[in-house]
Amino acid sequence: MAGKRKRKNAAERRGIHPRNKYSDNPPDFALLASLYPSFEPFVFYLRDGRPKIDWTDFNATRELTRVLLLHDHGINWWIPDGQLCPTVPNRLNYIHWIEDLLASDVIPTNRADCDVIKGFDIGTGTNCIYPLLGASVLGWKFVGSDMTDVAIEWANRNVESNPHISHLIEIRKVHFEDSIEESQISQKSSNEGGSECSSIKSEETRSGTKKSCYNGPPVLLGVVKDEEMFDFCMCNPPFFETIEEGGLNPKTSCGGTSEEMVCSGGEHAFITRIIEDSVKLKHTFRWYTSMVGRKLNLNTLVSEIWNVGATVVKTTEFVQGRTSRWGLAWSFLPASRKMLPSHKIEENNLSFMLEGLHRQHSGFDVLQSVESHFSGSGASCKLDSAAFNVDITASKDQIDSILKAETHNTVDAAEFNRSNSPNDQQSQPDAMRFRISVLQQNPGTLLVRGTLLDRSSSTSGLFSPIFQHLKDVLINKFCTGRGIKL
Ligand SMILES: C[S@@+](CC[C@H](N)C(=O)[O-])C[C@H]1O[C@@H](n2cnc3c(N)ncnc32)[C@H](O)[C@@H]1O
Repeated sequence: MAGKRKRKNAAERRGIHPRNKYSDNPPDFALLASLYPSFEPFVFYLRDGRPKIDWTDFNATRELTRVLLLHDHGINWWIPDGQLCPTVPNRLNYIHWIEDLLASDVIPTNRADCDVIKGFDIGTGTNCIYPLLGASVLGWKFVGSDMTDVAIEWANRNVESNPHISHLIEIRKVHFEDSIEESQISQKSSNEGGSECSSIKSEETRSGTKKSCYNGPPVLLGVVKDEEMFDFCMCNPPFFETIEEGGLNPKTSCGGTSEEMVCSGGEHAFITRIIEDSVKLKHTFRWYTSMVGRKLNLNTLVSEIWNVGATVVKTTEFVQGRTSRWGLAWSFLPASRKMLPSHKIEENNLSFMLEGLHRQHSGFDVLQSVESHFSGSGASCKLDSAAFNVDITASKDQIDSILKAETHNTVDAAEFNRSNSPNDQQSQPDAMRFRISVLQQNPGTLLVRGTLLDRSSSTSGLFSPIFQHLKDVLINKFCTGRGIKL
């Protein structure tokens, strides 16, 4: 039992940035409860003594964020009821990833060491979390924008409650009626084209649905002032097209009003607007970045960015618990190293989405099918139901037999053959070792991720076709007629 628990915690932490304060030391609820009496009522203890909080209780998650910011970062913070409540470890991952981008030599630095890094947080919210963390952990300067009165009022309050960093942060209101001055466009732009959906043609997804345009207030163009220069922009965009879509996760309660969570066209349209603005603002920012909530959107957006002439595109995956989000970054500065336009993120880390899952199927059913799929060809499989993954070791012959199998009925045949799986592949030098994890995105949507565990094997080049084959099998079995094939 203890062994299992240890594995689960390690798996949960795997997606945390190594410099994240919480990567080796997750928040200690018992300690915080003993130090902060206001947090104590929200902590309860499992039979084995582990302290927990109820993630579906907004007051509990808000109090946790408040005490973490105070205890670990010396930040005074509060938000009104119902507003989006950030989780501190998760928001720190994005900050540290930007720190990596700024330090990398992919694009030239050409800035003096004494210059303070300056960032722009698009949609800072009432919580103003990125400017507060960026300023306090790394000493960065920020402009944080938002369009709602409540966000501007509370972001300002949160800044003013922290006089030690308040000089580093400016909160800027975005107005619906803000017009984009012609002069600004011609000054900043080296590219022709309007600011509406015209500069990037609205994309058709591979599932055939047309994406709608963003039609809200300005995002960067019209908000950034003439002569301003930034090292980066960042954004946790309104992810959803409707509030119903946004309220689907029954396992957490981080609040979030419709203004915070929803915009026409959802995150795809919002980030497309950032891309359009970036084409006009070009070198005003060294890096343009955004969070992306859906893998399908990530792939489409990466193509859009290459199509508008970016010199560099970078992506990363942020994993927390069973939720994945992606970081997307691009630049128009001349790349110091040549980058090939590629949609592959990392060859030893592949993933796809299972969308529109039939109601009767759970993530565990998918996990069992993964196991059956590989054990049916004789591969050795170890299913860890706590970590929601299967570790697979397959010999060269077994890989060949998996790849030769017909996609359509493979799973059922595999179930039939399951008891024949030998367990001695570990010792074979050409065996491929990999892990398949199943992560819940939101109800009806799962992320299936494959990780090559040993890159040195002579068969590691077959990982991608093996994973592609698994994708076809699972979509066929679980999402017939509705699965989105990436
Ligand atoms: C998902 S919330 C993110 C809040 C905060 N940054 C965080 O990570 O918790 C999105 C925010 O974007 C704001 N927003 C929407 N459209 C905007 C625009 N055009 N310019 C600036 N902010 C905008 C919303 O009001 C909301 O506060």
